[in-house]
Amino acid sequence: IPVTVFPDDTTGSQVVATEIADIIKEKQQEGKPAVLGLATGASPLNIYKELIRMHKEEGLSFSNVITFNLDEYYPMEPDSLQSYVRFMYENLFNHIDIKKENIHIPDGTLSLDAVKTYCREYDEQIEKLGGLDLQLLGIGRTGHIGFNEPGSSLSSPTRMVKLDPLTVSDAAKDFIKEEFVPLRAITMGVGTIMQAKKIILVAWGQGKAPIVQEMVEGKITDEVPASFLQTHPNASVVLDERAAANLA
Ligand code: F6R
Repeated sequence: IPVTVFPDDTTGSQVVATEIADIIKEKQQEGKPAVLGLATGASPLNIYKELIRMHKEEGLSFSNVITFNLDEYYPMEPDSLQSYVRFMYENLFNHIDIKKENIHIPDGTLSLDAVKTYCREYDEQIEKLGGLDLQLLGIGRTGHIGFNEPGSSLSSPTRMVKLDPLTVSDAAKDFIKEEFVPLRAITMGVGTIMQAKKIILVAWGQGKAPIVQEMVEGKITDEVPASFLQTHPNASVVLDERAAANLA
């Protein structure tokens, strides 16, 4: 899997934002929608900042963009502080000209009975649009992509999952106390992610160095779901020097 290393997060994020903008513009010229899979968390923050800057200063339009977010905690109210719906509006959607009806984020308020059908329809909506043109990913210290924790199979669809204890403890900083972190989430599946035409995974900082090494140089295994990306024809990894520190 191709790896590009930048001196810092800001520089790497600018390059990724430019790649995303290029896809959006290319699709605009073809009169087609750009279908983007988006992530939350710290990793994409500077990418979103740069996209907002491009919108405000360079006139980049998101009017043809359709988005599908990777995941949401379950249960989760959209207006909660920790909600990924809230995160996406505050850090991107409120600042660009995307159409509200083009935004898709897994619904953390569903009844348990409704989850299965909802997840199947999430995958079907992506398929009907011809698949994701680009999926943006971060990586968790468990090796998760989306919330596909160790044990997630290569063909897993969008579904309800249990969070790994390490993921729960990493999330504690956002929830004041670890015991407030939801134990479950709805996540796009590994299978859903792998069907994207292009995938860019970003990781910054020294805390990610060990798992980045396993993802890039380790064996392909469901114990490190991100290692499945090694088999994708058009996936790449963008790192800062600190996240790349353990690579050969
Ligand atoms: C977020 C997501 C997760 C994060 C990962 C890294 O939508 O799907 O896989 O990308 O947990 O989180 P950060 O970027 O906060 O280190």
